[in-house]
Amino acid sequence: MIPGPVPVLPRIREAMSKPMIFHRGDEFGTMYGEIVALLRTVFQTRNDPFVLSGSGTCAMEAAIGNLVDKDTNIVCIANGKFGERFADIAGRYTEQVKPLNTTWGGSIDLETVKDALESNNPDVVTMVHNETSTGILNPAREVGKLVKKHDAIFVLDCVTTIGGDEAPVDDLGADVAIVGSQKCLGAPPGMSAISVSEAAWSSIREKQTNGPFYMDLEAYKKSYGKNQTPYTPAVPLFFALREALEVIKEEGMERRIKRHRILSKAARAAATGLGLNLFPELNEVSNYSNTVTAINIPPGLTDVQLKGGMKKRGIIVAGGQAELKGKIFRIASMGNITDKDMLKTVQALEEVLQEAGAIKTAGDGLEAAKTVFAEL
Ligand SMILES: Cc1ncc(COP(=O)(O)O)c(C=O)c1O
Repeated sequence: MIPGPVPVLPRIREAMSKPMIFHRGDEFGTMYGEIVALLRTVFQTRNDPFVLSGSGTCAMEAAIGNLVDKDTNIVCIANGKFGERFADIAGRYTEQVKPLNTTWGGSIDLETVKDALESNNPDVVTMVHNETSTGILNPAREVGKLVKKHDAIFVLDCVTTIGGDEAPVDDLGADVAIVGSQKCLGAPPGMSAISVSEAAWSSIREKQTNGPFYMDLEAYKKSYGKNQTPYTPAVPLFFALREALEVIKEEGMERRIKRHRILSKAARAAATGLGLNLFPELNEVSNYSNTVTAINIPPGLTDVQLKGGMKKRGIIVAGGQAELKGKIFRIASMGNITDKDMLKTVQALEEVLQEAGAIKTAGDGLEAAKTVFAEL
């Protein structure tokens, strides 16, 4: 139940063990075409999505490396680990990085964003849609509108929303959007996809210096016309990604988003039913994540005890990262997780809490979760 890599369905796992094919042959071309068509639906974009043989961070760097040179002015909005990662990456390409950091777990304030855009007049603005490290859903649409007013390029990390939550890339005003394979798409780790708008292409072409070679998006665009990738792709992972996207198509995006939302709602209901506190502090434009639930570790037990107790019962949950280590734990509901998985998780959590004396009686969490599942 961690926020990626998620459990992979047997049919997706089995797809990886097919005999290898030539990546310049027709069979690969057909598969690439299918993957792109399915991804376009999942991204809800008119733009072309490109598949990269590298994890989410590879797509983050592809976005930055292709858009940013030493003269680019970039504002990186952050309220957690992954938002801050954009600034770290950008720092490798320009000295003109303006981090706009909010406390981890805090909400992004639109007035602060507006002021930062006015005073910095950036060419590029980055943000994470769903900040996985803190379990908060950031106001992408509202920030997208502000970024457009300033005629800047909006890079949106949708690594833990696309394929699980509502993330209509074009509607949100994202010029560049990225997703990772091992999250809501339910595929194995090691791949990512990136979509690029016309405005972003113009910026990429105007750039004075070369960006990364392996993640050169213009090379991807050139090969795209032939349904190929510029260099040898991770073929077994492409097999798995196609199967994972087929699973999504069969479920349907609407049902899939509803399932993710209900699973997270159940996790939140169970936590509060057990007297635990949710970690994020919301404002009027933010929301709890619909794919990962971050919960404060209650007094009386440590992070190691909690995770260890859960693991003993067959459930792996994530702890806090960096400055949140030991303070929170996270239950994800990404990919092809079911209500049964969530109920098993809540039951294990109740047992662990009861064993540590953090709750007197078990059952309130399960009851709260079951009430939510009645909506499914
Ligand atoms: C929101 C977000 N962005 C980026 C990443 C980085 O992805 P990866 O670990 O696949 O490189 C993650 C990983 O958890 C993430 O959750």
